[in-house]
Amino acid sequence: MGKVYYISRNVGLCMLVLAASALATIIALSVAYNKERAKNQGRPADGTSSPPAATTPSAAREAWDSYRLPQSLIPVYYNVTLWPRLEPDADGLYVFTGSSAVVFRCVKETDLIIIHSNKLNLTSFQGHHAKLSGVGGVRVPTIQKSWLVVKTAYLVLQLQGRLTVGASYVLFTEFQGELADDLEGFYRSEYVEDGVKKVVATSQMQATYARKAFPCFDEPAMKAVFNIVIIHHRGTVALSNGREIDSLDSVLDGIPVRVTTFEPTQRMSTYLLAFIVSDFVSIESLQNHLLIRIWARKKAIDDKQGDYARNVTGPILQFYEQYYNASYPLSKSDQIALPDFNAGAMENWGLVTYRETALLYDPVESSTGNKERVTTVIAHELAHMWFGNLVTLRWWNDLWLNEGFASYVEYLGADYAEPSWNIRDQMILYDVHKVFAMDALASSHPLSRREEEVNEPAQISEMFNTISYSKGAAVLRMLSDFLTEPVFARGLSSYLNRFAFDNTVYTDLWEHLQQAVDNTPDVHLPHSVHDIMNRWTLQMGFPVVSIDTRTGSITQKHFLLDPDSAVDRPSQFNYVWFVPIKWIKTGEEQQQHWLLQKTDTNSRMRVSGADWVLANTNVSGYFRVNYDLENWNRLLSLLNSHHQALPVINRAQIIDDAFNLARAKIIDTTLALATTKYLSKERDYIPWESALRNLNYYILMFDRTEVYGALQAYFKKQIEPLFEHFRGITANWTKVPTGHTDQYNQINAVGVACTVNVGGCRELIRSWYRQWMESPSHNPIHSNLKSTVYCHAIAFGGVDEWDFAWTMFKNATLASEASRLRSAMACTKTPWLLNRYLDYTLDPTKIRKQDATSTIQYIAANVVGMPLAWNFVRARWSYIFQQYGKGSFSFANLINGITKRFSTEFELQELKKFKEDNLQVGFGSATLALEQAIEKTTANIKWVTENKADVLRWLTEESTFRET
Ligand SMILES: *[C@@H]1O[C@H](CO)[C@@H](O)[C@H](O)[C@H]1NC(C)=O
Ligand SMILES: *[C@@H]1O[C@H](CO)[C@@H](O)[C@H](O)[C@H]1NC(C)=O
Ligand SMILES: *[C@@H]1O[C@H](CO)[C@@H](O)[C@H](O)[C@H]1NC(C)=O
Ligand SMILES: *[C@@H]1O[C@H](CO)[C@@H](O)[C@H](O)[C@H]1NC(C)=O
Ligand SMILES: [Zn+2]
Repeated sequence: MGKVYYISRNVGLCMLVLAASALATIIALSVAYNKERAKNQGRPADGTSSPPAATTPSAAREAWDSYRLPQSLIPVYYNVTLWPRLEPDADGLYVFTGSSAVVFRCVKETDLIIIHSNKLNLTSFQGHHAKLSGVGGVRVPTIQKSWLVVKTAYLVLQLQGRLTVGASYVLFTEFQGELADDLEGFYRSEYVEDGVKKVVATSQMQATYARKAFPCFDEPAMKAVFNIVIIHHRGTVALSNGREIDSLDSVLDGIPVRVTTFEPTQRMSTYLLAFIVSDFVSIESLQNHLLIRIWARKKAIDDKQGDYARNVTGPILQFYEQYYNASYPLSKSDQIALPDFNAGAMENWGLVTYRETALLYDPVESSTGNKERVTTVIAHELAHMWFGNLVTLRWWNDLWLNEGFASYVEYLGADYAEPSWNIRDQMILYDVHKVFAMDALASSHPLSRREEEVNEPAQISEMFNTISYSKGAAVLRMLSDFLTEPVFARGLSSYLNRFAFDNTVYTDLWEHLQQAVDNTPDVHLPHSVHDIMNRWTLQMGFPVVSIDTRTGSITQKHFLLDPDSAVDRPSQFNYVWFVPIKWIKTGEEQQQHWLLQKTDTNSRMRVSGADWVLANTNVSGYFRVNYDLENWNRLLSLLNSHHQALPVINRAQIIDDAFNLARAKIIDTTLALATTKYLSKERDYIPWESALRNLNYYILMFDRTEVYGALQAYFKKQIEPLFEHFRGITANWTKVPTGHTDQYNQINAVGVACTVNVGGCRELIRSWYRQWMESPSHNPIHSNLKSTVYCHAIAFGGVDEWDFAWTMFKNATLASEASRLRSAMACTKTPWLLNRYLDYTLDPTKIRKQDATSTIQYIAANVVGMPLAWNFVRARWSYIFQQYGKGSFSFANLINGITKRFSTEFELQELKKFKEDNLQVGFGSATLALEQAIEKTTANIKWVTENKADVLRWLTEESTFRET
């Protein structure tokens, strides 16, 4: 599945006054499935499927009490027919009906049939929930009784005799389910086109929702072939994993319908199935005879919003065929953009589903960031077509390998499609630095779980988190780097070919990579792939490697952001890693050093005079680096004299490492600040972005204190040259830069420059916005800059600017334009406008319910809006919680967003009082966030106390000192 929680790829970076709120994500450990999880809690049990108590055998730990299927029956193929109704029935209920025949083989003698079934009303056959027959004249035991188990979501059949090992049987069921708008299983999505409400039937099976569409053995290792038939309205189109082979008009129950039959699927897992009925249209292309189609609302396709996706899909598939050395396993590739979709995207085999913003790109209205997101999400999902779909991990405990892998190779696929973007470098920002922030907390956890630890759906959902995605990606990138890319790809290819259509555990991949290493004479590892990788996957966290260039000594230590936090989770490896250290000495790449113990020495790392050492070249290793002060100073002076002597990724790394080492009290805060001095000469995006994210914490802590004046003056001094640089290369802002990341950095330059009032910036923005206000149908602002321009024009404007934005928001037809305006309206500094906007958030006719809590967060991100939002939420907590707290994935972020600046004793007391006052009401999915907010406020108070004076002194000196 795609990541749902994207750090804005520069889509709205400067909205939060200065920089993206990367640190905010520390709380959002759990990514994709929070919404489903929150929804599952407190849902009333479906009474209709409860077994009559008297018929439920009551012995403890019966087979049907276990969340894992017994391994006695193995499915071979299914015939499934589904008929979703896109209009409500007489009771106002949207339903689907269906039937399924599953042929399964008995591999272990048993008198029980246990199969998943959730929220389905099953038709009764002679008093039982299913019909059983034998294949090829096999004798079939009589069904003694059948019942449903709600907790484990099973249909259970107790037989009078035993099934025969080696024999095959058919279980036939007929059922009716609700086509609810719950985004799970077979569900309903609605949208409005030309004032008409349209209904789409679509599906999301991962991880455990296929059982909600039809009774099935719903575990990833229970692969089978699926013969799908979909019955639907004439005038709609039905899609599934396989290519449609037949579509005929018919009349069923007196209703004129169309019956579409799909080719049999390959042997595949249930979680990758997909069924969609819609009135969408498509555009297509052929890539070596493979049919590629992009589906979306007609209006979106007419506006050419699918063209970009179609253009990049062919090249990306071609790249993976070469990279995996395996051809695309299916006969077609469909991708579809859905108006309501929970995750970012889902890699259903042959029919990938996306949020609209992850697939559609409007050549006029969308920004470069929007485009990059489309490319990387497509590359991510298509990577799964082999890794994950063709070869599937046996159980969800290994999810990190599936998602980490796709999160790594998405950069390779996207790089192939857009070679000029240098997108592989950006992984440092969007995955490595992001997950460093979480994996440095005492509350982190190891990548790998044991199979027995992951059973219930909620435990499975928890696996979909940033550690799985981003740390998985980071350690695989490191592995690929120390094996070398060709060896990694060879091992991968042999793994995929060996296990095609089958299931694996993660050690299978290590074995095939090891074979590739063993067959390559010039790659030497100090230990096996298995032993090296265990250190990174079985223990949480990562090391900080300290190099003392006076002695050549190297040490490693588990890096924790809060040095006072104790890790109570023991590690079998005592938090020692096998660390591949690539390094540069005075500009020359050196032989890689393997750090295999806690301490070591390398005499070549002993340097003096003008020589310097830089470790972790290109941040290919998953660790931070510290040096003796002399070497730090040499690196700083190198940055200040000719920073281009260091790779661009390492410039970003030096900043990020230094700020984090300072937070952990390993180095001085002023040393961290000193890494930003050279930025007045830096033009590249990645180091700037890294600095802005780190400095964002300083802004939050100090923007209500006397430090802020000095901070602003320092920012102004640093950003001015960048602003002028972009003015120059854009011919006075009449063009956009050609470089991909230059476009991102232009956004940073304009956003920061306007915030700190660099001459000309605010005038520029005002004049653009004025022009737009004068002729609303001709927006002169380039899409890349819209978020920033709207925000600042509203921040430095008045009620006219705000009301104009409101009108444009109400009239916006492109979802991303509406969301830019919605966040920009939170930028005003006028209290009454902010309070009015807060009132709007709780009025669903003004702000859609799904957008309410995020709008409040935008307001809280504004230094003027923060106390207003805090008062607003406190005063209405019980209402907000009742209306918006149930089942909302973003609800926890509300508390997190509002309390981000909290750093005084007074605020801490207020927070504690808020908790006490509302114990009766409760906090729902924000409970943990509230605890973390209290903890973080405490930590912030401490940090501010310890650092404020030093920071103020340093900033004051730096901002008044002028180089001559
Ligand atoms: C499944 O469908 C195929 C094709 O219609 C048919 O030949 C086969 O007998 C069906 N199998 C079962 C168990 O119903
Ligand atoms: C299932 O049966 C129950 C009880 O008869 C009924 O209330 C419910 O609406 C049914 N669900 C569907 C989707 O038909
Ligand atoms: C897609 O490719 C066509 C043909 O090369 C090109 O004309 C068009 O501009 C591309 N569209 C987008 C959005 O990239
Ligand atoms: C930009 O504007 C300045 C001042 O108006 C002018 O001197 C300069 O020539 C302009 N540069 C370009 C490239 O248009
Ligand atoms: Zn994925």
